[in-house]
Amino acid sequence: MFWHDSCYRQWEVSNNSKGLEHDKTKVFPDCFDNMCVVSFAILLSLGSEIYRQAPPIPNAVLSESGETIYTEDDIQDGQLVWRTMGGHQLGSIWGHGSYVAPDWTADWVHRESEIWLDLAAKTHFSQPLSQLSEADKAKLESLLRDDIRPNRFQPEDGQLIISDLRAEAVKQLQDYYVNLFGNNPDFQPTREAYAMKENTIASEENREKLTAFFFWGAWAAVTERPGENYTYTNNWPFDPVVGNTPTSDNIVWSILSVVVLIAGVGALAWYHASLKEHDLPEMPKEDPLFGFKPTPSQKALTKYFITAVGLFLLQVLLGGITAHYAVEGQEFYGIPLAEILPYSVTRTWHTQLAVFWIATAWLGTGLYIAPALSGYEPKFQRLGVNVLWVALVIVVLGSMAGEWAAVQQYFDIDLSYWVGHQGQEYIDLGRIWQILLLVGLLIWLALVTAAIKPALTKDGEMKPVIWVLYASCVAIGLFYGAGLFQGKHTNLAIAEYWRWWVVHLWVEGFFETFATSVIALMFVRLGLVRAQSANSAVLFATVVFLTGGLLGTLHHLYFTGTPTSVIAWGSIFSALEVVPLALIGFEAVGTYRMQKATQWMVRYKWAIMFFVATALWNLVGAGVLGFLINPPVALYFIQGLNTTATHAHGAFMGVYGMLGIGLMLTCLRGLTGDTNAWDDKLLKWTFWSLNVGLAGMIFMSLLPVGIIQFFAVIDHGYWYARSPEVIHSELVEMFVWLRVPGDVLFGMGGLLLAAFFAKLFFSARGKATDKEVTA
Ligand code: HEM
Ligand SMILES: [Fe+2]
Repeated sequence: MFWHDSCYRQWEVSNNSKGLEHDKTKVFPDCFDNMCVVSFAILLSLGSEIYRQAPPIPNAVLSESGETIYTEDDIQDGQLVWRTMGGHQLGSIWGHGSYVAPDWTADWVHRESEIWLDLAAKTHFSQPLSQLSEADKAKLESLLRDDIRPNRFQPEDGQLIISDLRAEAVKQLQDYYVNLFGNNPDFQPTREAYAMKENTIASEENREKLTAFFFWGAWAAVTERPGENYTYTNNWPFDPVVGNTPTSDNIVWSILSVVVLIAGVGALAWYHASLKEHDLPEMPKEDPLFGFKPTPSQKALTKYFITAVGLFLLQVLLGGITAHYAVEGQEFYGIPLAEILPYSVTRTWHTQLAVFWIATAWLGTGLYIAPALSGYEPKFQRLGVNVLWVALVIVVLGSMAGEWAAVQQYFDIDLSYWVGHQGQEYIDLGRIWQILLLVGLLIWLALVTAAIKPALTKDGEMKPVIWVLYASCVAIGLFYGAGLFQGKHTNLAIAEYWRWWVVHLWVEGFFETFATSVIALMFVRLGLVRAQSANSAVLFATVVFLTGGLLGTLHHLYFTGTPTSVIAWGSIFSALEVVPLALIGFEAVGTYRMQKATQWMVRYKWAIMFFVATALWNLVGAGVLGFLINPPVALYFIQGLNTTATHAHGAFMGVYGMLGIGLMLTCLRGLTGDTNAWDDKLLKWTFWSLNVGLAGMIFMSLLPVGIIQFFAVIDHGYWYARSPEVIHSELVEMFVWLRVPGDVLFGMGGLLLAAFFAKLFFSARGKATDKEVTA
């Protein structure tokens, strides 16, 4: 994301000597427009293919002898039941979700095949499967594939006919799940292993419906698309018994994506080398922001930052509990915690709070920087800032309460959707809360617009970067609305498409451009970088990031019931996302040097160190660990394993968490002045604890577990990697325990940050000095 930083120095050349600068600021906006139009046109046209080619939901699933197994309503209601229990937050579907309970698709496919083979062994050989020779087993497996893989959906009447033998297997499997999701004591150890609470789904009728939804997802995973030799999910999950192995597209595009990555890195390195070195501008003698007097609305932002830190601490605490559930599935050191706070709730809150606290820090930053740029404080801005804060608190607390009540099964399936849990990771909150959050974002956008407007219209030297910043704010606000394009009965293949419009386009698109422009503006304000250099560099970075980032969305959709073209486009463009990240070292070093550029920069030292950490984690967490799971053939085997958690922690906390802290510190420097209560020592410990702690949890625990699971998938099939045999094996549990040092250190970092805030705001000495400065 910080590609611009590394470029500052080089842009100076064109800026001063050849007048090239001017040309570049003209060329990049054109590139940007064209690239956005083309990328969205492709994304939308693939979206329309996804609509057309989504696995159909049958009107009825019938056995050959005419018995109705499931109806369309069962499947649709089953999807809602799945949402009430937390959906993605308890196991996964088509590889998307959480990592302790099984992937219900892979689990169903495998169990159904085992029951089918056993029934067939009895029919054909009058013996249980275990007694058969390998040759006879192979014969039956071949018959199994002949039974389940051909597409027996009849588009004319919307019916799906399955063999009687398969119908019998489905019924037996239904009993298993109805027991598992209830409170049958025989199944308690399995629930414990899967971190499921007793009576996960309270009503038996709903448990049966849930199986209809699981069946449908599993059917799509083993049924070949009409006229093709691969399934609706591109043969995911890997399970050779049912004929699911990587498709040729999967392998070919994976290899091509690596080649494209190498070519991209080469091209960018070449381009970078072709730029001439030039010195940075002469540093101001004094901090240009020193003595800056915050406006009333800026002062009102302090509570945003305190709230962000509070939510962060809560997120860390919930993360610790969620991780513990991987060892003790229903308890916390013997206390039966799952009765009131089950895994599905702690994980929902943990992931949602990540979004909430980082968003709060950023919203605050946006509101801080807008009047700083324009020098204009709109009327009622302070009131608006206060109202927005209250609205955010209501949405955070309300949505969390709703999610808890949904998982506790207090609502019926409809109400649960509206006020409880949508079950879709990162947009889990009930629909009403989701709408309110969108309204909150729009209020934020209105406030930012009001304050920044003069800077947008005035012909200033920073205009292009200010426009990039503003456009990112608009995109962040509006694109959250994409989550509303899917409803409670939307086919999951389509729902996933829209979900990733929000999650991916936010984190790998607009967040990157927001971050790039906001940091550039801060450096320009500090006089460390010339405005014109920042302009070109930010526009260039925006084009580079969005070229991969927009179509990169498709890397989440390889196996979610989409056509093969998604694999081709997704693998190539998401590989391009890694190109700027691979070379980010240039700017990490450039940013690091900024803090030593002049004496007074020591005031910003730790804010800048957090920006350096952001760049480092962009390389490690987003670039390297992202690419580990990015080629289709890698994700085919390791989607939804701890390898994903590895990347998610390195990228989300590493990049945007660290950035959020850096931004808050920069704003707070302006808000609190040069107070003695600003404790750099505390910040130093905060910084190292958070970063070393994060690295510890990733490299000592999550990554090794992910790699053990990777081997398990290849040896046995995907279903095995999340089975208790692996998750609760001695080796894996040892690595889960090895999370403790990293987690504890990281938690200490959180507490130290809170201590820094407490000292800053509550120290009487600090306040006294503060008054002197701002008076
Ligand atoms: C700072 C930027 C990024 C952030 C914050 C981020 C965050 C995340 C998160 C939170 C997840 C979901 C984890 C889960 O399902 O539990 C994820 C999944 C994934 N990310 Fe990233 N990511 C970033 C950049 C990248 C990059 C650059 C790549 C590679 C090109 C990448 C590739 C993937 C893939 C392949 C998945 C798994 C696909 C799936 O299961 O849907 N990410 N990322
Ligand atoms: Fe992504």
